[in-house]
Amino acid sequence: MEITVSKQAVQETNAQCLILPVYAGGRSMAPETEACNEACGGAIEGFMKRGDLSGEPGSRAMLYDLPGIKSPRVLLIGCGAPGSMSLTHWRKMLDTAVAAAGEANARTVAVALTSVALENADTNLRLQHLAQAFGLANYRFTAFKSKQPKRTNIARVTLIVGAHDALPAAKRAAATGAAIAAGMRYTRDLANRPANECTPAYLASSARGMVKGRSRLSVKVLSEAEMKKLGMGALLSVAAGSAQPAKFIVLEYKGGAKTRRPVALVGKGVTFDTGGISIKPAANMAEMKYDMAGAASVLGTMLAIDDMALNANVVGLIPATENMPSGTATKPGDVVTSMSGQTIEILNTDAEGRLILSDALTYAERYNPTAVIDIATLTGACIVALGHHASGLMANDDELAEHLIASGNKAGDRAWRLPLWDDYQSQIDSNVADFANLGVQGAGSITAACFLSRFAKSFKWAHLDIAGSAWNPGQNKAATGRPVPLLVQYLIDHAG
Ligand code: BES
Ligand code: MN
Ligand code: ZN
Repeated sequence: MEITVSKQAVQETNAQCLILPVYAGGRSMAPETEACNEACGGAIEGFMKRGDLSGEPGSRAMLYDLPGIKSPRVLLIGCGAPGSMSLTHWRKMLDTAVAAAGEANARTVAVALTSVALENADTNLRLQHLAQAFGLANYRFTAFKSKQPKRTNIARVTLIVGAHDALPAAKRAAATGAAIAAGMRYTRDLANRPANECTPAYLASSARGMVKGRSRLSVKVLSEAEMKKLGMGALLSVAAGSAQPAKFIVLEYKGGAKTRRPVALVGKGVTFDTGGISIKPAANMAEMKYDMAGAASVLGTMLAIDDMALNANVVGLIPATENMPSGTATKPGDVVTSMSGQTIEILNTDAEGRLILSDALTYAERYNPTAVIDIATLTGACIVALGHHASGLMANDDELAEHLIASGNKAGDRAWRLPLWDDYQSQIDSNVADFANLGVQGAGSITAACFLSRFAKSFKWAHLDIAGSAWNPGQNKAATGRPVPLLVQYLIDHAG
């Protein structure tokens, strides 16, 4: 889908669906709607007077063949009271608009919402969200349907900027939103893909395919033999039970000055998590194909920042493996030595994410990064705490945590901080090894982060637990593409 920004008279715009804002109460009109209302002899005002459309965010109505308006469909979309729309309502309004335009049989859509976006100081951020929402409009995961469902896709979206004279800024905002959507689609495709296809090797070849023809991006894939040489005993202990060889994927994005220190993103890439010998119950185990959503979000983020040619240096590290039970699998009670030299008593083989991340964090040291952010579907406890609305955030640096929370709020992809007080650290004590991979006495998300913190002592580090936010559960189960918006926004705000 193509998103363009242009200045033109709304009533003269010829799209298969034209989207116009209306306010609650219907007394005042946005200039675009006013212009169309005049062109059609007051038909829009007449419709509003009937009272069928509240005008609140989330409300909508489709009108057809209005005289004097070139577009045959006019979608009126509720924007609340003038100047009243929070960013959250703006996003809700966009979801409504995208759904209605998608249900209509329209291939071309013109959006005349800029005057509403201009009511708030964050106009360009709102245009970015607009482009992002439309960039996801056609997304369906149909790769494994033998018959493709019939459906009209939106092929072209024109963002009409009337009185708005900041055309270059609007264009940049739209391009950013489109790039984030592209990254999210990439992330969703990988996380939705079943584990019989989406193996560690598949992730590696996906990364190779992504960097092809992109001069700022490069990739290197380490084999198990190379991991062994590096001493990645924690990662390899998770891979021990699997017939699929583990891969360690290293992505580098060089969009900034050579001397600039990078930000490192570390994504958990467990392509299927059975729990290993500490095997999971059967119910919902199928969902564990998305246990590589952290890895997928790193790939999607790298794609998005390259699309927008972000002026920054970013490293993406992905430890990728299955977690399987077998005669060669790691057993509860086994002790392994991590790349850092620290020894770990593996009390539960289902707490595997922290094991593979620990070696990746140690590997990150060689980049002297300004910040390291790991992204992982790490604990069911995080879903208990926050549900599917927010990512859990834990960090060893307050400023980094605050930056991530602020960027997440802007991106509409929120994170909520949990404490990482020293009080929790003793919950992973072991009387056999340096520490255990399992915490006792509650706070499972935090004790998992305590484990990771032992490998993040030499840099500013934050951990995003995306067990809830990366996935919509239930019958319409699907990957969300989160936290790509948060990560891209953070890199725009603080690495560029
Ligand atoms: N991948 C899971 C966490 C998870 C659970 C993600 C549900 C998404 C939905 C992780 O590897 C895991 O199994 N964690 C255990 C840790 C426990 C053994 C300490 C958990 O959360 O139960
Ligand atoms: Mn597990
Ligand atoms: Zn897992």
